[in-house]
Amino acid sequence: MNYIGSKLSLFEFLENSINKVVDKNCDTFCDLFAGTGIVGSYFKKKGYKIVANDIQYYSFVLNRHYIGNHKELTFVKLSKEIPKLKKNKIENRKNFVCDYLSNLKGKKGFVYKNYCLGGTKNQKIQRQYFSDINATRCDAIRQKIEKWKKEKLINNNEFYFLLASLIESIDKRANTASVYGAFLKRLKKSAQKSFVLRPAELIINDQKHKVYNQDINALAKKIKGDILYLDPPYNHRQYATNYHLLETIARYDNPKIHGKTGLREYQNQKSFYCSRTQVKKAFKDLVLQAKMKYIFLSYNNEGLMTLDDIKEIMSLRGKYGNFKKEYNRFKADKLENRSYKANKTVEYLHYVVCG
Ligand SMILES: C[S@@+](CC[C@H](N)C(=O)[O-])C[C@H]1O[C@@H](n2cnc3c(N)ncnc32)[C@H](O)[C@@H]1O
Repeated sequence: MNYIGSKLSLFEFLENSINKVVDKNCDTFCDLFAGTGIVGSYFKKKGYKIVANDIQYYSFVLNRHYIGNHKELTFVKLSKEIPKLKKNKIENRKNFVCDYLSNLKGKKGFVYKNYCLGGTKNQKIQRQYFSDINATRCDAIRQKIEKWKKEKLINNNEFYFLLASLIESIDKRANTASVYGAFLKRLKKSAQKSFVLRPAELIINDQKHKVYNQDINALAKKIKGDILYLDPPYNHRQYATNYHLLETIARYDNPKIHGKTGLREYQNQKSFYCSRTQVKKAFKDLVLQAKMKYIFLSYNNEGLMTLDDIKEIMSLRGKYGNFKKEYNRFKADKLENRSYKANKTVEYLHYVVCG
């Protein structure tokens, strides 16, 4: 997923830097601003036991699948509804169920009624986040997944796999420049294409992992680990507003929405890390209470906290250091924040060896 602050292109930098600092006895990697879950997934593949967390529910869903699911999914009970499923080898069943869902007849549900032209044409505000047909497909799939869960035809692991697959696949058909803070006037090419449910990758590994959906400062008091990796928002842009539609599809809770973009209420998900006046206090509290051997922080040279702020706070726990790398700016920043002149930023990985 094209996500603000994604570390997709920084794995090598992160891994090489982390390996220069940590001892060989570390086996728990905590990714507590997990976003899409790609950093945790990378270290899960390296054999670590992962703890993942994010304040957004769609992110919890992605992580609950990519991190939390670590054994093959069998869909045993679903053969009551889809008898042909049994004939498939276990490893092919994820594909089979996704194909089945992709072929459902569309339904005019919450997404259709609020986020595409057909559904909003008689309302005060028209929106076009998806094509009409893709919106009805999204509704049909989301409703079926919920029904299967309620009827206990799928277990939690299977539920989160299907929901993660839906979030990833529908995001590819969104009619936005990159985030959900606005939609495009005309349907772009990728949004015109037919929405198909693609199975999200399943990462098999022997360890047991944990996934949370909490404010990081509340969670950090309760857990222990070896490596704490922190990748907070760098600036004032709240993830709750930029990805509100993924949150609504994940929750499917018929929220009250308002305004041009159909934004849901997000008071409980406002992050201190996006506030110039609150970020330092929140970060200091977090660093002071973390029960970890090492703390790493990804941040760039344009973030709300300065290099000196970070150094001062992290040094409270022990020996501080940092690594840096030039990085290409996120696409949405180039489009929306034209005031930024440079196409490159400096990405830092700060660390402290906790004493
Ligand atoms: C820079 S992104 C993480 C990107 C992630 N490393 C990736 O590559 O996909 C920051 C994440 O922090 C989450 N977040 C912001 N404030 C939070 C808080 N107080 N507690 C937990 N998560 C928070 C946001 O929802 C967002 O997903």
